[in-house]
Formats: sequence, C-alpha cells, structure tokens
Amino acid sequence: MTLWSGRFSRPMSRALWELSESFSFDHVLYAHDIVGSRAHVRGLARAGLLTGEEASELDRVLVAIEGEFAAGTFARHDQDEDVHMAIERRATELAGPIGARLHTARSRNDQVATTLRLFTRDALSALGHEVLDLVDVLVELGERYEGAYLPGYTHLQRAQPVLLAHHLDAHAWALLRDVDRLADTRTRLNVSPLGAGALAGTSLAIDPSATASWLGFREPFANSMDAVSDRDFVAETLSSVALLGVHLSRMGEELVLWTTAEFGFASLGDDFTTGSSMLPHKKNSDVAELARGKSGRMVGNLVSLLTTLKGLPLSYNRDLQEDKEPLFDSLTQASLVVTAIAGAYRSLTFHATVAQRAAHDELLGAIDIAERLVADGMPFRLAHDLVGRAVGDAVAGGIPLSDVVAATEQLATYGDVFEEGYTLASRRSPGAAGPAALPAQRVRLEAARVRARSSLAPITPVLPSL
Ligand code: ARG
Repeated sequence: MTLWSGRFSRPMSRALWELSESFSFDHVLYAHDIVGSRAHVRGLARAGLLTGEEASELDRVLVAIEGEFAAGTFARHDQDEDVHMAIERRATELAGPIGARLHTARSRNDQVATTLRLFTRDALSALGHEVLDLVDVLVELGERYEGAYLPGYTHLQRAQPVLLAHHLDAHAWALLRDVDRLADTRTRLNVSPLGAGALAGTSLAIDPSATASWLGFREPFANSMDAVSDRDFVAETLSSVALLGVHLSRMGEELVLWTTAEFGFASLGDDFTTGSSMLPHKKNSDVAELARGKSGRMVGNLVSLLTTLKGLPLSYNRDLQEDKEPLFDSLTQASLVVTAIAGAYRSLTFHATVAQRAAHDELLGAIDIAERLVADGMPFRLAHDLVGRAVGDAVAGGIPLSDVVAATEQLATYGDVFEEGYTLASRRSPGAAGPAALPAQRVRLEAARVRARSSLAPITPVLPSL
C-alpha cells in the first residue's frame, strides 16, 4: 500500500512502478530531506499542529533514520517510491501514529523542491572549493617553473612567446569565473519553497519564513506556484557546470597536445597516465582525454533539462522528476574531472628547454621589429607591410629572418630583437605575457581567489531546539 492509496481500488501496475520510482537515484538526497523535515516538524509545533512531545518524538526518529542511511542499514520497502516517501514510511514505523502527522501542511511538491535546493546548495560549494584547489595547483605550477616560457598560439600557429605562468593563469581566470557562477547560482537558489504545499499553500497556520530561516535560506518563496515549479536553479547549476566542463575540456585538449612527441612540452607523472594493452611503449594521457570527453555529457545534461522544462504548464508536473539524474551526473562528473586534472597538473613535468626552443622561432620577433619601427615614428600599417615583405623573403629563400633584416636598410638597426629573451621581456603592457607584467596580474589574481573563497562561505541550517 502506498501512502496515497486511499482513493484507488487497484494497485499500481508494475510497468508504471518501474517507470515512476525514483528511490534508486534520489536516495542520495536523504540528509537534505531529513533536515527539511526536521525544520518542518518545528514549524508544525510552532503552529500548534504538533505538541512539543510529538515534535520531539518525530525529530528523534528522523535523526535515527538519517543514522540508518549513513550506516547503510536503511531498508527500502517495495512500496517506497522515492526518498521522501521512504523516510515518511520509516518515520511512521518508528514513531507509530504520530508519524501520520509528519506530512501535515506539506506536499512532496514543496518538499522535493526544498530538499533539492538544500542538496544543490551544498554541492555548489563543494564543487567550487574543488575548482579553487585546481586554481591553486595551476598557480603553483607557474611558480615552480618561474621564468619558463613557451610559444603562445593563435589558430594553433606559433604567435608570440608567453611565460608559462601567464599561460596557466589564463586557465585560472576562466576557472575563477566558473567559481563565481557557482557561487552566484547558490545565492539565487537560496530561497525556501517549503510551505507552498502542492501548489497553492495551505489553510493551516504555518510560517514559511520561520522554516526558511532555520534552513539557512535567505527568504521564503513569494508565490506558491512558482515555488513548486521552479527548477531554474537546476538549469543554472547545469549551465555553470557545463561551462566549467568546457574549460576543463580545453585544458585537457592542451595537455593532450603538450604530451605528444610532436610538441613534447610536458610529461604527466606515471600515476596520471595509462599504458596500452598491446603496445608496450605507450604512455597515454587518458586523464586529459577524459576531461575532454566528459564535457560532452555535461553539455548534454543541460540540454536534457532545458528540453524537459520547456513545455511544462504551471505548476508541478512529474516531468520534473527528470531534473535529478542530469543534476547528479553533472555534479559527480565535474568533481571527478576537477580532482583528477588537478592531480595531473601536480604531476606534470614541464620540458622548458623544448618549449623555449619552439618559442625561439625568429618569425615570432617580426612584430617586435614592426613595433620598433612604430616607436620610431612609422605608421603601423607601413611597418607591418615592410616587415611582412622581409618575412616573405626569408620564408621564400629559406634563410633566417635575422639575415634578411640585417640586409634590409630600413630594418638593419633592429637586429637585437632576435636576441634571446628580447621578445618576451618586451611584452610589458598591463596584462601582457612577459615577466615585468606578471606581478600586477598576480595581485589581481590573488584578490580574485580571496573573493571567490569568501563567496563560498558555508551556509548551514540552524534548527531551534525543541
Ligand atoms: N519524486 C518526485 C519528484 O522528484 C517527488 C514529487 C512527487 N510529487 C507528485 N505529486 N507525484 O519530483
């Protein structure tokens, strides 16, 4: 018998049961569901809908049920459709007739919305902290190889030399924006739906603002229909995670390239690489490929939810149950990737000699000659053209650019740009890739890291004593 079987004369078909049960995946919500119920019990007691003794007893059994889940001893019954009904069923078993009062002035519709917000709130901070740890690893790697540089690319063609620290910081900035989005999503989701009931509130004298504040929500819902039908917070989470996934994928792609024999800029530690079942010599960067590959399902999960939501009339519809698996999957996969890719960077050896040799390509000095001509008064377009011709001659003749420059009257005085380190050192404008510009960037990066950390400060329920 289900908890709602009163008006039915035949039990649910097996096929519908298997379609609709969600305990198999929503059981992970148990702790957040229980804290929501414990706040609800306090609200019922305040409203005079439970005596103090009844409330204490219900609270005691809810804590006991949480213990059963945590210990792995919670026994699911055949009729437990989802985590919410499983907990209520067990509370009724443990508390006897008082259990039948737990769901007063509440629907699973406001309950599941409350539970999922509490769960997502914690998950967003946990993931945000993992991303910040990855930022730490990137910054440390740049510091470990202080002064090392490599070619910076556009169109995957060598463009200009850049400090390794500058290059890695570029990824750190993208990740800090991800943390900002995760924190921002958490702030916006922090509104309590508890008290909205099925869709229209209740005739009973509950106080949604009290339960909201005990659960650490900023405020209670303003509109009961919006409260039970809103899954924007899931869409925003999936969107923020998808973009994080895209950033991790790009980092993965770069690690794949860097660790090829063709690039040879880096090697990953043995503990972050895999071998081949057939080819004895292989050392593969699977960690980076999985970072790239996993992003596909994070993007897919976002599209899945948006597609689910787009045709739904107000208010709660059972389609909304399809919010959970994409959400859990994206959060789990993102956490796996962030943690593994942080380990991969920590294990990374940067082959500075190889990378710097690639950056010593004389053609990368072409812009420096053009900028020196500009500094001496020539309009940039003319300078570009003049140097472009010299490059064309060098490439066509198979001779070093420095030789052509030395032999060209208007350019001959600028031969020093080909001295080692000249090009990198001259990138000193604000935010540029050279060593002189790095300290000021690091000041801003450090401030952003501090801000990001404080934006993730814990938000925790504080339940009043009974
Ligand atoms: N498991 C359901 C969900 O995730 C709970 C809400 C069910 N509500 C209902 N009216 N059938 O959405």
